[in-house]
Amino acid sequence: MLWEEAISSVAEYVIKHSSTEDSVLREINEETARLFPEAYSMLSGHPQGLFLEMISTIKKPKYILEVGTFVGYSTICLARGLNDKGRLITIEKNKELHDLIRKNLKKAGVEERVLILFGDAMELIPELPYSFDLVFIDADKIHYPDYVQMIENKMTKGGVLLVDNTLWGGEVLNPETPEAKAIHKTNEYLASSDKWKTVLVPMRDGITIAQFVG
Ligand SMILES: C[S@@+](CC[C@H](N)C(=O)[O-])C[C@H]1O[C@@H](n2cnc3c(N)ncnc32)[C@H](O)[C@@H]1O
Repeated sequence: MLWEEAISSVAEYVIKHSSTEDSVLREINEETARLFPEAYSMLSGHPQGLFLEMISTIKKPKYILEVGTFVGYSTICLARGLNDKGRLITIEKNKELHDLIRKNLKKAGVEERVLILFGDAMELIPELPYSFDLVFIDADKIHYPDYVQMIENKMTKGGVLLVDNTLWGGEVLNPETPEAKAIHKTNEYLASSDKWKTVLVPMRDGITIAQFVG
């Protein structure tokens, strides 16, 4: 069996042995595939969305920060775990996604609990007047090291950081592109810093979970 075939067989097995995607997320998933065939791989999708939802539900955060909204799929998954008074702040630089994000959040019944900030996360994160129990970094890869530095003093003690695409298709093993180098730098930092307790989970394109202990 070819390596690629083995990987896709494992991915199929993983989906088959995880709870099914609910109808709201499935509709958003299918619509995104239709509307953005070339950008569709950016969507967390199933079962990674379920994984995000479970981490959030276990953590019951008061404040969540998401960097990189796209159509709001992961936003919905994360918002489902908020505590009763909790709020999620999500940052997206593409203003053209505004109506679609709002429509999707409304469909999932989480629109009242989510604040969408449109603009560059590099400029917006330092201005945020909150401490976060849960942060999901999933925007432009070259700024990953900056994002981690910027959120470090906005984490609550014991707060959880999730970073997506930390395997970058395996390129982190021999990083040559600016994106692979930036992700590798982030991985090295989170694994070696005594401020973070970190595990890189080889789900999909790699998702790192780091707990702020510093
Ligand atoms: C991988 S997608 C997010 C996917 C989404 N988190 C999910 O899992 O469904 C990355 C998003 O980050 C946005 N983005 C890229 N650079 C950004 C920046 N500097 N500030 C804010 N958003 C940015 C892109 O426009 C894109 O919509």
